[in-house]
Amino acid sequence: MLRSRIIGTGHFLPERILTNTELETMMDTTDEWIRQRTGIHQRHSAKDGEGSADLAYPAAVQALEAANVDPNDVDLVLMATTTPDYIFPASACVLQEKLGIERAAAFDMNAACSGFVYALATANSMIQTGMFKTILLAGAERVTNRLNWEMRDTAVLFGDGAGAVVLRAENGDHGVLTSYLDASGGENDLLIWPAGGSKQPIGSHNHDSSDCDIRMRGQDLFKRAVIEFSNAMKQALNGTDVSLDEIALVIPHQANIRIIQKSAERIGMSMDRVFVNVDQVGNTMAASIPIALDQAVRAGRIKDGDLILFAAFGAGLTWGSCLVRW
Ligand SMILES: CC(C)(COP(=O)(O)OP(=O)(O)OC[C@H]1O[C@@H](n2cnc3c(N)ncnc32)[C@H](O)[C@@H]1OP(=O)(O)O)[C@@H](O)C(=O)NCCC(=O)NCCS
Repeated sequence: MLRSRIIGTGHFLPERILTNTELETMMDTTDEWIRQRTGIHQRHSAKDGEGSADLAYPAAVQALEAANVDPNDVDLVLMATTTPDYIFPASACVLQEKLGIERAAAFDMNAACSGFVYALATANSMIQTGMFKTILLAGAERVTNRLNWEMRDTAVLFGDGAGAVVLRAENGDHGVLTSYLDASGGENDLLIWPAGGSKQPIGSHNHDSSDCDIRMRGQDLFKRAVIEFSNAMKQALNGTDVSLDEIALVIPHQANIRIIQKSAERIGMSMDRVFVNVDQVGNTMAASIPIALDQAVRAGRIKDGDLILFAAFGAGLTWGSCLVRW
């Protein structure tokens, strides 16, 4: 059976680290509160003038090198991002140009923090139909330059970064085995960034200035995230003969250590089989899973034949999962 195999991974985190202690000087918060409620110790912040494609570029170069793939062999550049460089063109086109890829299809996907899982499922379907053979999929977010540092409930959560994978069509039993996607658009009031799109363009002076900031109902979101994360992890195994005990590593979207722990507990998964880096990078939205994946690969935590489970949850609301055999 034709499958999408992940043949290379890479990630990039900007050099500048923004610690909780530094945030204490910028807003009414404490390192202790942030660590206790979120598990986050620090996040990375890109330089002025850097956009998401600038962060995706080094991650993509690393992934292509690891895959030993010439950039011009890529036939689709797909970028999962909530913070594209421009309204148009897509950041995937900006990345294509940076990589010197002369001809390839290129587009962005926005499923907020579920973006990487949505894009992986989409890329996999396109490979299985025979439409593309080699896909570069990057998840990248440049978010810290748009945060309101007076909004302590949201500003402490997010960080910049990018991760990338190279997918190759391959016959066999390695690659994406299943994917599960779901959404509930009626609950977008739990997490929304209202202004900046076509409904309330920035500079139109017809929106409340608070619409320029992320609006989040943290506790309600937390509860939904735990339920849907754990459901998504189980859904990826539906219709397969794989049991949760056989999963070598779960790589969840990194939003909050307590969400990750409670979801794992709910399905009886021990935390030693769950990859966590939220303490070091915060919530990097669509970039979080590919960053974590590359860190896990380079740390030797994934070996040939391992079953890996990706699970994500985010604004939309959106959620989903993918089961992959390495
Ligand atoms: C945001 C979140 C960490 C808040 O934790 P919480 O335990 O729910 O905290 P609450 O919102 O109940 O706030 C508790 C208190 O801390 C305060 N607080 C909020 N942010 C704070 C901060 N950064 N520093 C210090 N105090 C803060 C609140 O004002 C509140 O004060 P009060 O009791 O005097 O009113 C938690 O709800 C969460 O992680 N939700 C999910 C967020 C998420 O993952 N979003 C992305 C999804 S992909």
